Amino acid sequence: MLTVGSVATDLRLGIVILSLLLVLRPLLSEEKCHSDDKKALLKIKKAFNNPYLLASWQPNIDCCTWYCVKCDDVTNRIIEIFISDGDLPGQIPDAIADLPYLKSISFHKVTKFSGPIPYSITKVKYLDFLRISYANLTGTIPEFLGQLKNLTYLNLSYNNLTGPIPSSLGQIPKLGYIGLDQNKLTGTIPPSLVNLKGSELYLILSHNQLSGEIPASFQDIDFGKIDLSRNKLQGDISMLFGYKKTTYMMDFSRNMFEFNMSKLHVHQSLVYLDINHNRVFGSIPEVMTKLALQSFNVSYNRLCGKIPQGGRLQTRFDYSAYFHNRCLCGSPLDVACK
Ligand SMILES: *[C@@H]1O[C@H](CO)[C@@H](O)[C@H](O)[C@H]1NC(C)=O
Ligand SMILES: *[C@@H]1O[C@H](CO)[C@@H](O)[C@H](O)[C@H]1NC(C)=O
Ligand SMILES: *[C@@H]1O[C@H](CO)[C@@H](O)[C@H](O)[C@H]1NC(C)=O
Ligand SMILES: *[C@@H]1O[C@H](CO)[C@@H](O)[C@H](O)[C@H]1NC(C)=O
Ligand SMILES: *[C@@H]1O[C@H](CO)[C@@H](O)[C@H](O)[C@H]1NC(C)=O
Ligand SMILES: *[C@@H]1O[C@H](CO)[C@@H](O)[C@H](O)[C@H]1NC(C)=O
Repeated sequence: MLTVGSVATDLRLGIVILSLLLVLRPLLSEEKCHSDDKKALLKIKKAFNNPYLLASWQPNIDCCTWYCVKCDDVTNRIIEIFISDGDLPGQIPDAIADLPYLKSISFHKVTKFSGPIPYSITKVKYLDFLRISYANLTGTIPEFLGQLKNLTYLNLSYNNLTGPIPSSLGQIPKLGYIGLDQNKLTGTIPPSLVNLKGSELYLILSHNQLSGEIPASFQDIDFGKIDLSRNKLQGDISMLFGYKKTTYMMDFSRNMFEFNMSKLHVHQSLVYLDINHNRVFGSIPEVMTKLALQSFNVSYNRLCGKIPQGGRLQTRFDYSAYFHNRCLCGSPLDVACK
């Protein structure tokens, strides 16, 4: 006899089976993954010693459903690989070159990575985004990266890279983001970087051992963000400022830059300016009171004269933004102007 209870049980069972079918459907349906891509990915997995992080990379499962990769919606080719927080031992596998449709490679916080960037990466000719950060890359930044003509974003921050910044980076037509900070790079900044293109230019080179002067050609670049802090750079950088530049972040701290700050022209867009620990002379220009500054630090320089009063210069920043200069005076320093 049918009871109300058993009808409910049957219904529930039906719903369970239906949902199971819905969940399993993608697995039962035809595989989208291109077999060449699957082969290459399995080679990569093997090169990394079959890490737990890549446990979903199983030969009998559609690779378009695997973790850490993405297929193109139309072509179903692998276009992205993004691996982070993994104990991946070894080097970047050459098998990466067997994924010719990759647009984006990101290895982030893979601290057991070692060795140089392999030449095989130049075969990934559609590559647009390349990030290998918080890894342990060694060797130099290879000239052959200049062959990656589709690159718009390059981030190799937090590695152990040595040697100079290759001038070939200036030959990449649409490169706009460069992050090479926290390495052991030496040499000068190549003038070819004046060719950087993009809607917003980022040049992040902090915490290296770069030396020499900033190329004069940089006066024509309008950076969004430029961070050259903690290097051994020198000379006059006033050409990086100007009424027409729309830069909002500038960090030149802890170098040996030397210029007359009284003559600086700055655009309203500037909200972050740090020049502490340099050899900047002259006085702080009045125009600084007109800016919506979020960060400002001119300490440890050779500045003189009255700190302009107004804007955010007193309300937002304490004496430590101004101390250790030759003869600055006025609030917020506890030194009266004569
Ligand atoms: C990075 O590589 C160096 C040299 O091979 C090694 O001594 C160091 O332990 C590595 N660092 C990490 C975090 O694996
Ligand atoms: C990417 O590179 C290919 C081959 O070099 C080129 O044909 C294509 O126009 C490039 N695509 C973009 C978006 O630049
Ligand atoms: C760079 O190498 C040194 C030893 O050579 C190591 O102690 C350090 O952890 C490495 N840096 C990174 C970011 O892995
Ligand atoms: C580079 O990557 C690091 C770590 O993910 C990130 O903090 C930094 O903002 C990136 N730099 C650029 C220029 O995008
Ligand atoms: C800095 O420039 C100002 C304005 O042109 C000038 O009056 C001043 O003498 C210069 N300071 C030094 C130390 O050259
Ligand atoms: C300015 O920089 C100096 C030197 O690094 C630091 O001691 C001070 O706290 C900074 N002050 C502000 C307001 O950022």
